[in-house]
Amino acid sequence: MALVTLKEVLETAERTNTAIPGFNIDNIEIPEAIMEAAEAENCPVILTIGQGAIQAGGLRHLPDVVRRLAESSTVPVVMHLDHGVSYEQTIACLRAGFTSVMYDGSHHPFAENVRESTAVVRAAHAVGVSVECELGAISGVEDGISHSGANLVDLDEVRRFIEVVDCDALAVGIGNAHGIYKGTPNLDFDRLAACRRLGTPPLVLHGGSGIPADMIQRAISLGIRKINVATEVRLAFLEGLEASVGCRDIYAVYGAAKSRVTELARTKIRMFQNKG
Ligand code: 13P
Repeated sequence: MALVTLKEVLETAERTNTAIPGFNIDNIEIPEAIMEAAEAENCPVILTIGQGAIQAGGLRHLPDVVRRLAESSTVPVVMHLDHGVSYEQTIACLRAGFTSVMYDGSHHPFAENVRESTAVVRAAHAVGVSVECELGAISGVEDGISHSGANLVDLDEVRRFIEVVDCDALAVGIGNAHGIYKGTPNLDFDRLAACRRLGTPPLVLHGGSGIPADMIQRAISLGIRKINVATEVRLAFLEGLEASVGCRDIYAVYGAAKSRVTELARTKIRMFQNKG
């Protein structure tokens, strides 16, 4: 089937009280492995191209890979930009065929985040592409970019933001972080519930790697509709490669790495679909 928008799959998630996984992809094998999982679990999936993948390969190859995988897929696929850094980058992604872009202005002053997010929404909506925005910067390290400090979203900012920015999804900082958590994550569920009560668009949880199943389920019950997973995907692939050290058959080596990714993706999908 053709690629679908983020807005479409989030409507499914809202109806079924589940969350759709947004898996970061960094090479050709990872999205292939994820598609096997999504089809086996019959679940829509968001294939996410982030800043690391763009720095490594530009916007030349991965968008083509995602489009072809979607065309032959039995489940809906979204091509999504993760943590878009500028208006210009989001426009380049519209041209490259993305069906969803994230503009992350959370590290900028509020007024600038509102202004840039508004411009991105206007351009993306003009060509039928969904937009995710962010409030309350997510801490941790992603794609070599490090952010630290408190990241709890300010409820008054949420209220003012959604009054003027017509985004299709909103990522909020509630104590979540990119990378592997040291100990159990400390998520502020009361704040999440309060965000939802303000009438936000579907909410997004970044930093999905390592969040225990019970916390994931609670977050979904409070309105999280998209959950991002990057670090665990990369580790699964790398561990598959490491397990094959010494093997001189390239297909067997990549096959082992892909199997690990498929297994991980199936586990996350079941967790996000409340299937235990
Ligand atoms: P993790 O790397 O912690 O899974 O976070 C992924 C993410 O939020 C991508 O935006």
